[in-house]
Amino acid sequence: MAALRFAALLLWAALLTLTARKARGASATSSRFATRELSVNMTCKDNNECNAKKHLTCNVSTGRCTCVNGYSPMGPTSCGKKLGDVCDRNCDAQNSRCKLVGDKYICLCEEGLTASTDGTFCYGKPLMFEDVCDHSANCTDVGSRVICKNFACVCEENYVRWHGQCLEKIDRLDVPCNEDTQVCFSESESDSANKKICLNGFCRCVSGFVPHDGMCKKKISLLGAPCNATTHVCHKDDDGANQTLQCHNGICQCKDIFLLEDGKCKKKIDVLGAKCSPGTEICYADSEGKRRQCRDGTCQCKSSFVNENGICKQKISLMGAPCNATADVCYFKEDGNQQKTHCKDGVCQCKAEFALTDKKCQKLKSGNNHAEARFIGRIAWIPLIAVISVMR
Ligand SMILES: *[C@@H]1O[C@H](CO)[C@@H](O)[C@H](O)[C@H]1NC(C)=O
Ligand SMILES: *[C@@H]1O[C@H](CO)[C@@H](O)[C@H](O)[C@H]1NC(C)=O
Ligand SMILES: *[C@@H]1O[C@H](CO)[C@@H](O)[C@H](O)[C@H]1NC(C)=O
Ligand SMILES: *[C@@H]1O[C@H](CO)[C@@H](O)[C@H](O)[C@H]1NC(C)=O
Ligand SMILES: *[C@@H]1O[C@H](CO)[C@@H](O)[C@H](O)[C@H]1NC(C)=O
Ligand SMILES: *[C@@H]1O[C@H](CO)[C@@H](O)[C@H](O)[C@H]1NC(C)=O
Repeated sequence: MAALRFAALLLWAALLTLTARKARGASATSSRFATRELSVNMTCKDNNECNAKKHLTCNVSTGRCTCVNGYSPMGPTSCGKKLGDVCDRNCDAQNSRCKLVGDKYICLCEEGLTASTDGTFCYGKPLMFEDVCDHSANCTDVGSRVICKNFACVCEENYVRWHGQCLEKIDRLDVPCNEDTQVCFSESESDSANKKICLNGFCRCVSGFVPHDGMCKKKISLLGAPCNATTHVCHKDDDGANQTLQCHNGICQCKDIFLLEDGKCKKKIDVLGAKCSPGTEICYADSEGKRRQCRDGTCQCKSSFVNENGICKQKISLMGAPCNATADVCYFKEDGNQQKTHCKDGVCQCKAEFALTDKKCQKLKSGNNHAEARFIGRIAWIPLIAVISVMR
């Protein structure tokens, strides 16, 4: 009885260990699979690392993932039953079948098809673009300038498929083209549709698109309309060679040398006294803001501003008002405009030789000045007398 109980205990302990080990093994394996599923010819240390689902195993003597016995590499990531491999039911080569040959089952092409050189597919004579091929010679019936690239019949380098033919591709604008043998083609445009066209013997952008950095970009003609500088160009046909718009911050705006006025981009003229034409130009300095106007055909300061060294400064006509010497002038008609006033310490005030009296800047009495001078003259003697006394 005791022996039986002991045996049961032993069995239970053994079961417990086994389950624990299994769980550990499973979790280790799954985590390894999650991080590493190695492909053909990748380096490996043990079997769990190679992708078993794709018939790969680790050849410990070479340290590389190889196809398990009876399977062949089918591209870089997996192994399968290639043409010529012994099979029991399934073949992995495209258009192949497991056929009995003598006393063995072997993967062979379906009736009438040719085996590819690498044994991974079977194919017939290509007749159309994109048909499967193995050699460029197979694509001759598709057309001239057709080659086999990545197992498909396509146009050769620098040629493009155009209405069932391979035509020479021209990807530059404004160069001569021949519509019958060449095609003006937008290689770099992200959009799939071609934006170039052979027009009157030259490569141009199709209607609605304009050339920009050698590319054709969609034309947006409306000031204020949203745009994307990658694919759009803000462009007004009326502007001709001197375009006024640009795509900036996602909106069609006036270029920097223009300023918006009355719904138009007008060219900034920033020299006072320069000629101006109000329909297309605006008198404006970026540093000043709107202080200028075009009057009588020349750029001038507006009436509440005054030209001081080519800058329009604001007239301030209130004694004691705050002012900024770089942007403002203290300007009093009754005091001869700027003759007796100035902007000092941020305040409009009388100049030094004047004093504010009856709301006007009045010249200081000369008597006061003389008294002052005499006083200073007397003080100046003191150090001299002191020096003489010491010398004695
Ligand atoms: C496997 O990789 C090694 C080293 O990169 C290389 O020399 C060898 O040719 C490769 N073998 C195959 C079958 O790709
Ligand atoms: C491992 O690779 C060596 C060298 O290519 C080969 O001789 C051997 O048969 C391979 N072993 C297995 C188990 O595939
Ligand atoms: C494709 O071209 C190769 C090389 O010329 C040739 O051996 C093969 O038979 C051709 N295949 C077909 C289907 O024409
Ligand atoms: C602009 O267009 C490009 C290409 O279509 C796109 O990748 C990009 O996200 C767009 N930019 C904005 C700001 O919408
Ligand atoms: C473009 O601007 C230049 C320089 O300002 C000028 O000489 C030329 O006449 C303008 N062209 C057109 C078409 O307005
Ligand atoms: C004075 O005006 C100039 C130009 O407008 C400005 O750059 C500066 O900051 C102003 N100074 C003061 C003290 O406001």
